[in-house]
Amino acid sequence: ARDVRISPSILSADFANLERELDAINNADWAHVDVMDNHFVPNLTLGLPVVESLLKVSPIPLDAHLMIDDPDRWAPAYAEAGCKSVTFHVEAAADPKKLARDIRAAGARASMAIKPNTPWEPYADLLPELDMVLVMTVEPGFGGQSFMAEQMPKVRAVRESIRTHGGDVWVQVDGGVSAKTIEQCAEAGADTFVAGSAVYGAESAAAAIDELRALAAG
Ligand code: DX5
Ligand code: ZN
Repeated sequence: ARDVRISPSILSADFANLERELDAINNADWAHVDVMDNHFVPNLTLGLPVVESLLKVSPIPLDAHLMIDDPDRWAPAYAEAGCKSVTFHVEAAADPKKLARDIRAAGARASMAIKPNTPWEPYADLLPELDMVLVMTVEPGFGGQSFMAEQMPKVRAVRESIRTHGGDVWVQVDGGVSAKTIEQCAEAGADTFVAGSAVYGAESAAAAIDELRALAAG
């Protein structure tokens, strides 16, 4: 079986009860926190003060996905606060290499996200600076959108670059990941899976996580 990680997105959780909603996914590997600034994406969620509070109560490590402008300025603070993985968007970063180094220096795994219309190849030489690459399988901004299967060749290309470089870099997919779509992601080379509506929309979040993990592991 493949070594896989499930990271439920609390974007689909009840924002009035986030501590309880984190407890509901305590059998997951990570909790995915979507930070949106209403500039990089047309939606607004939460920022560092809320993340600091979540870190105090979360039973599992936080995986921060920053959909914000100027991540060079803001992302290292999420690592310093205690997020164990911090993802910035390459489309927003002025100096992705330096930013990845800053995130690592602040104690987190450094991760770079690419939107559906952003190609992978121009950034492949950043791999030595990265612990994870996030291939978006929807346009970032909202939960509950349809999975873009046309992103699978990009997942394959990222996985192939990692094979060539020989590093231990995770490949994450985010957007429309469900029991129907997770196997094709795993087959293409993803090993870390974000799921929002598929987990929090299920009758049992814990059971949904177990099912997704089993399907991804193959
Ligand atoms: C979208 C966010 C995702 C979102 C996924 O911009 O980055 O993490 O919560 O939600 P689902 O799994 O419902 O597509
Ligand atoms: Zn996300």
